Amino acid sequence: MYTASSQRYQQISYRRCGKSGIRLPLISLGLWHNFGSIDDFANAEKMAHTAFDLGITHFDLANNYGPEPGSAERTLSQILKNGLGKYRDELIISSKAGYLMWPGPYGEWGSRKNLIASCDQSLKRLGLDYIDVFYHHRPDPETPLEESMTALADIVRSGKALYAGISNYPVDRARQAFSMLRELKVPCLLHQINVSMLNRHYEEEGMFDLLDSEGVGGILFSPLAQGLLSDKYLQGIPADSRAKRNYFLKESRITPELLEKITRLNQIASERSQTLAQMAIAWVLRFKGVTSALIGASRPEQIIELVKGTENSSFSPGELAAIDQILHA
Ligand SMILES: NC(=O)c1ccc[n+]([C@@H]2O[C@H](COP(=O)([O-])OP(=O)(O)OC[C@H]3O[C@@H](n4cnc5c(N)ncnc54)[C@H](OP(=O)(O)O)[C@@H]3O)[C@@H](O)[C@H]2O)c1
Repeated sequence: MYTASSQRYQQISYRRCGKSGIRLPLISLGLWHNFGSIDDFANAEKMAHTAFDLGITHFDLANNYGPEPGSAERTLSQILKNGLGKYRDELIISSKAGYLMWPGPYGEWGSRKNLIASCDQSLKRLGLDYIDVFYHHRPDPETPLEESMTALADIVRSGKALYAGISNYPVDRARQAFSMLRELKVPCLLHQINVSMLNRHYEEEGMFDLLDSEGVGGILFSPLAQGLLSDKYLQGIPADSRAKRNYFLKESRITPELLEKITRLNQIASERSQTLAQMAIAWVLRFKGVTSALIGASRPEQIIELVKGTENSSFSPGELAAIDQILHA
């Protein structure tokens, strides 16, 4: 039976989520890949234990994570049953609804029907009484925002979730969502968005100013751009890499131009005595309003490396300018 390290709260720093009572570790672990029913359970369990032993209290899921969809929630349920569950009050477990999960008109997007039914399904798969953070996974252009936000607030009021969050909302829609949730007395805890050195869209549209002024925590997913921001592709495409699976991360993304940028970024990282993967995390954590970098991993060693990298998270103006120059080249 698993027993957590007694040193777990000395390994990583925590930041407050906006103006809420919750603090999250600088790194959170996502279960999008490598926790499905097709994956090696022992490795998944080892990654969860490694993360928790390093003070990573936050595990991020969605209804559709797998494959097959739903199976990542079942994997975490089994890990909890095997021992991690005795630390339930030390864990923040999140899930989401919004992407296609079941056939017919109610299996995706943002209707009240979809969000509440999906939350109930997630609770069953997870074997939990409540989810800590329940998100609307993507904005729905057709459902009135009020319907989606009221459903989130009702999920919280019913005790099925403790906090509400949104994900992938552009800045104007996010502002409206924050305002509605505040009026409903269920303030938005987190906005989950894709940010990395290779994806600066939210930075350019002013999302960090909004998060900071609204007191909502930013949790930034895919900070390694699914592994591209590491040294792993510099000598070709390893057989056990995400790009080799050629599904969510296509081999065609790895162009000579990208490799040239990665090589130069890797050089800056080594001058900072970091790996490029560690520098990629530090780079996203410097934005205001940001609470946590939401990583994925395929093996426990990657988590250890990334947590170690949080010790060096400041950049000189010269380093930032050099990075900008590479990214804009
Ligand atoms: N809200 C949304 O719409 C949304 C969308 C996507 C993701 N997310 C969340 O964000 C989480 C993270 O996404 P992500 O997996 O794309 O994040 P990521 O951290 O950018 O990429 C993770 C991948 O990078 C590689 N990696 C990790 N650590 C490494 C290291 N130290 N050195 C070299 N390579 C390393 C591994 O790939 P290999 O397999 O190649 O080893 C790993 O699976 C997801 O699990 C999910 O919870 C949310």
